[in-house]
Amino acid sequence: MTDLFNEAKSLFSYTQSMRRDFHMHPELGFNEIRTGGIVAKELEALGIEVTKGVGKTGVVGLLEGAKPGPTLLLRFDMDALPILEDTGAEYASQNSGVMHACGHDGHTAIGLTVAKILNAHKNELAGTVKFCFQPSEEGFNGEEVGGAEMMMKDGVLDNPKVDMSLSLHLWNEKPLGWIHVAKGPVMAGAEEFKVKIIGKGGHGAIPEAAIDPVVCAAQIVSAAQTIVSRNVSPTQTAVVSFTMINGGTAFNIIPQEVTMEGTIRTFEPRVRETVVRRFEELTTGVASAMGCQAEVKVKRISPALINADDVSAKVQETARRILPQAEHDNSPYLTMGAEDMAFMQEKVNGCYFFIGSNNTEKHLDYGHHHPKFDFDEQALVNGVALMSAAVMDILK
Ligand code: NI
Repeated sequence: MTDLFNEAKSLFSYTQSMRRDFHMHPELGFNEIRTGGIVAKELEALGIEVTKGVGKTGVVGLLEGAKPGPTLLLRFDMDALPILEDTGAEYASQNSGVMHACGHDGHTAIGLTVAKILNAHKNELAGTVKFCFQPSEEGFNGEEVGGAEMMMKDGVLDNPKVDMSLSLHLWNEKPLGWIHVAKGPVMAGAEEFKVKIIGKGGHGAIPEAAIDPVVCAAQIVSAAQTIVSRNVSPTQTAVVSFTMINGGTAFNIIPQEVTMEGTIRTFEPRVRETVVRRFEELTTGVASAMGCQAEVKVKRISPALINADDVSAKVQETARRILPQAEHDNSPYLTMGAEDMAFMQEKVNGCYFFIGSNNTEKHLDYGHHHPKFDFDEQALVNGVALMSAAVMDILK
């Protein structure tokens, strides 16, 4: 195989100029019209077959290799965040109040450069590459589902049927030169819960005539602490956090009801099932014991992001060969944060890897979603090289 790292390096000015253009013109989830338009134009210029409007503003490109083989989906997210940029960069956002503060501008630019490289090597590919430029990773933005699910509803995993996937994230928590490719879980699954405790309102001084939902809510918050400590194995990970409690209008009124909200985070599907089931049982059981009624809604925001062993093993091998100077980290759990690529990786064997991107000397080390977030653009070269080389290795 030719030296894909050098090819990635020689295309740096293209990748950088695309990234800076996207950075100057950020668009929120499901509004990536300009971004998607540029993506479609760039892919079409390479002769890649393009479908627009997949999952509202998503763009799909199909690149057929010379020989038959599996279909490998490459996913790049395109959306920005509602943040007022404060980097002072010459390429800062021109769309006030909207900012690429997570690095998705870099992901989109990496995707376009990978398309250029793979298109030049299509005679060496046995299989099909499906480029998936995804809208709205950061949230639902008023829709029922986020970008990954929206594209899946529109059939992004079919015609041709996707066999495997690769995706990546620039990672500003770690320095340029750090590469994380792990088997198993890498990001947590997230649930949002809403609980309504219905009692019987009354006078604060005559509790015997009321059924107090405030005391009941307090018992539920305490009881729920036993889920992680008593129902989850000490060797596994889960979080149950109540983040909102609302009820009452005055110091002398026992309210009619109390509402509570919060989040559950888990990695393993079995742990998730246990935690959700125990949460529902405890909430309704405690409420009933206290004479109240409980309405419990647990909504899945995203499943855990779990990397398949076979695909990840190949990417680990490729990473060590193509980036020999890098610091290679193959440890599992990375963050309790969530990522909607998890929906696709529930259906197909995938590998989601992380490219270290901070540079403390250049003060490019603010965290993701910070108004001063920016990364070392040399990380783009590592992302392009590893993604392209992994595709070449998998579709050999
Ligand atoms: Ni992100």
